[in-house]
Amino acid sequence: MEQLAVLGAGYVGLVTAACLAELGHRVTCIEVDGRRLMALKAGQLPIYERGLPELIWGNAQRGRLFFSDDFGEIADADAIFVAVPTPSGENGEADISFVRQAVYSLIPHAKRGVLLIIKSTVPVGTADRISQLPPVLKAGIEVVSNPEFLRQGTAVRDFLQPERVVIGAESAQAVERVARIYASLEASIVSVDRRSAELAKYTANALLATRISFINEISHIATAVNADIDDVARIVGMDRRIGPAFLRSGLGWGGSCFPKDVLALTSAAARYGCHTPILRAVYEINELQREHAAQLLIDALHGIDDPIVAVLGVAFKPNTDDVRGSPALTIAERLLGNGVTVRIHDPFALVNASDVLARIDCRPDPYSALEGADALLLATEWEEYETLDWTLVRETMRGKTVVDGRNVLNGGHLTELGFRYRSFGRPEHKLNGNGTHHNINGSIPGVAGEGVE
Ligand SMILES: NC(=O)c1ccc[n+]([C@@H]2O[C@H](COP(=O)([O-])OP(=O)(O)OC[C@H]3O[C@@H](n4cnc5c(N)ncnc54)[C@H](O)[C@@H]3O)[C@@H](O)[C@H]2O)c1
Repeated sequence: MEQLAVLGAGYVGLVTAACLAELGHRVTCIEVDGRRLMALKAGQLPIYERGLPELIWGNAQRGRLFFSDDFGEIADADAIFVAVPTPSGENGEADISFVRQAVYSLIPHAKRGVLLIIKSTVPVGTADRISQLPPVLKAGIEVVSNPEFLRQGTAVRDFLQPERVVIGAESAQAVERVARIYASLEASIVSVDRRSAELAKYTANALLATRISFINEISHIATAVNADIDDVARIVGMDRRIGPAFLRSGLGWGGSCFPKDVLALTSAAARYGCHTPILRAVYEINELQREHAAQLLIDALHGIDDPIVAVLGVAFKPNTDDVRGSPALTIAERLLGNGVTVRIHDPFALVNASDVLARIDCRPDPYSALEGADALLLATEWEEYETLDWTLVRETMRGKTVVDGRNVLNGGHLTELGFRYRSFGRPEHKLNGNGTHHNINGSIPGVAGEGVE
């Protein structure tokens, strides 16, 4: 058992702290946001993540997990994990001021020789620069890059069963110390230098975003030539060199990571004089997808007085309450700007959504959102939308436009019921009884249900 500290009780910090405690360590999680800390101390989780409450409260009860805002409580820690935000700053560069602040706050309290493990996604060279800060050198602090690859929605499983644990360190001793913390996980440890670890994290996110933007670009070609993007993606994904993941077309990617990481990599590259046309296109295509969806809706509402759109799902992907970078919100804002009334439903993200966009009308169930609506946008493929009673939906809505932002609904069935079904690269001929689209449970191997970041 090691004494550990985690700075930041957000999506990464809370999962890291809970899972490290689950591995048997004694963990103190430091959070500077008073409201968040108060909630945690009162036994309320500030985020929704499956499997996390059990780990948090179980380990808190066993005396292995503590929450505090007092940096003095990290004094016994052998290693300190940094999991604070790195949002987009000026020109898209990563803003590392939270990391800097966290480091300066811990230095006066940390044990000599403590291991400082950077989990936040930071620009290449950040760990090197921190290691050269005079107070860090003076305190003999060893800085390690240990980028996090968990996905919201499956974060606990991703942490406890990782595909790899990347340790970017400049000494074999530091690698050994970090590896010891993770020793009870069955994981491949990849030991590299700090800069490669930092760049690998950005590269992974940028590549995943690229796959989605790429298939979205192809989906427009599919529409033009009347081919089926689902079939195209399935065939292409069966090639082992390519694989099926992240090849579903629709509204594109969002979340707190892909947008800021693609931007941060692009702007860092520019600073080094590197030309990055792919990264720029990946971002632009994603923006265009949202615009395309908004335009589909606006066109469908043409001539209707006081139009109403119901948006089902506002979290950036299913199984999270996170609305950062959510395509649903961008589209909702565009619709509001066009005089459309926007009603939304989401099983977990309504509070977060209304914090961002106060003018949207939040509804407690999908049918209430759909009542009298002229169009429906399915923006997040939550499982509960699988079981919607479409006959009832047809009776409830005033209009009949359905924009399937995730290509998960059974378009043929909806067309038979009288809906005007719009998707991203699914052909018209399949809507006329000549074929069926996969439904939300559909059998597009490895594609359906993966969630889009
Ligand atoms: N969310 C993800 O899925 C994910 C996955 C991999 C990596 N990351 C990276 O991890 C980092 C954290 O992301 P997140 O989504 O957990 O952010 P978050 O915003 O959910 O949580 C960060 C927390 O850190 C707290 N904080 C800020 N400054 C602090 C300080 N000085 N001391 C202690 N706490 C402080 C904030 O109040 C907040 O609660 C980012 O760099 C992100 O890119 C995120």
